[in-house]
Amino acid sequence: MGKVVVVTSGKGGVGKTTSTAALGAALAQRNEKVVVVDFDVGLRNLDLVMGAERRVVYDLINVIQGDAKLPQALIRDKRLETLYLLPASQTRDKDNLTAEGVEQVIGELKRYFDWVICDSPAGIERGATLAMRHADMAVVVTNPEVSSVRDSDRIIGLLDAKTAKAERGERIEKHLLLTRYDGARAQRGDMLKVDDVLEILSIPLLGIIPESMDVLRASNIGAPVTLADTRSGAAQAYFAAARRLAGEVLPVEIPGEKRGILGKIFARRAA
Ligand SMILES: Nc1ncnc2c1ncn2[C@@H]1O[C@H](COP(=O)(O)OP(=O)(O)OP(=O)(O)O)[C@@H](O)[C@H]1O
Ligand SMILES: [Mg+2]
Repeated sequence: MGKVVVVTSGKGGVGKTTSTAALGAALAQRNEKVVVVDFDVGLRNLDLVMGAERRVVYDLINVIQGDAKLPQALIRDKRLETLYLLPASQTRDKDNLTAEGVEQVIGELKRYFDWVICDSPAGIERGATLAMRHADMAVVVTNPEVSSVRDSDRIIGLLDAKTAKAERGERIEKHLLLTRYDGARAQRGDMLKVDDVLEILSIPLLGIIPESMDVLRASNIGAPVTLADTRSGAAQAYFAAARRLAGEVLPVEIPGEKRGILGKIFARRAA
């Protein structure tokens, strides 16, 4: 059975969709079978970042409503054989995303894929709780600023209360992915420092992704940054985060700081 991961945040625009695409591609680049699932009904962003927007025929809601079978809706990536996308609907009503339907689709995907990575919509409403509902692990995407950290804290509370795992009395694995990190701004005090964020959220650090034009350039050409620009700092940080997600213990480097003990924080075991 594959692992179900939700990429979530509470606050909008922090890098969930970017991170879903990059982590999904990074795992597929290691030959793991991966499907990225877009739960952001109405906005449909993940297909753009994956460069698959012209290939969308059926979507998650079509599958839930029985208009299409799951294999008909899955789009195989043109670059990576083991990477698939299940797109969201741009036009349908969010209410068509039913709890039973989501459970069935995720259950089916788990049987075929090593990783089912769910891109959550922003907020703490139904769409976000449905996206996290069947997750085994959560990637909490956070920017180094107060409002993002506060919303991540609320999401962590929801993960511990509203997921199927939590309701069964089991623990959902939570990981912090700090994105859009700018070392110079953190030094100047314009952004929170890594330690400050870790102290407030106290979940293990999956990685730190630098603020980078390479991410924007990749999304403009419809490619996850780990495929568009493998040697960029952002891609390297996502590769390392994907390895940690898969269970490897690697030191985390703070972008912009010199290598060395002070610049490294060792990832703790998942909370
Ligand atoms: N590391 C980064 N460096 C620079 N820009 C970034 C980085 N990560 C994400 N962005 C940019 O930030 C914007 C928001 O990213 P993204 O769409 O992934 O966020 P989101 O959390 O999915 O948003 P939403 O809540 O609306 O779904 C995009 O323009 C994206 O290209
Ligand atoms: Mg998004």
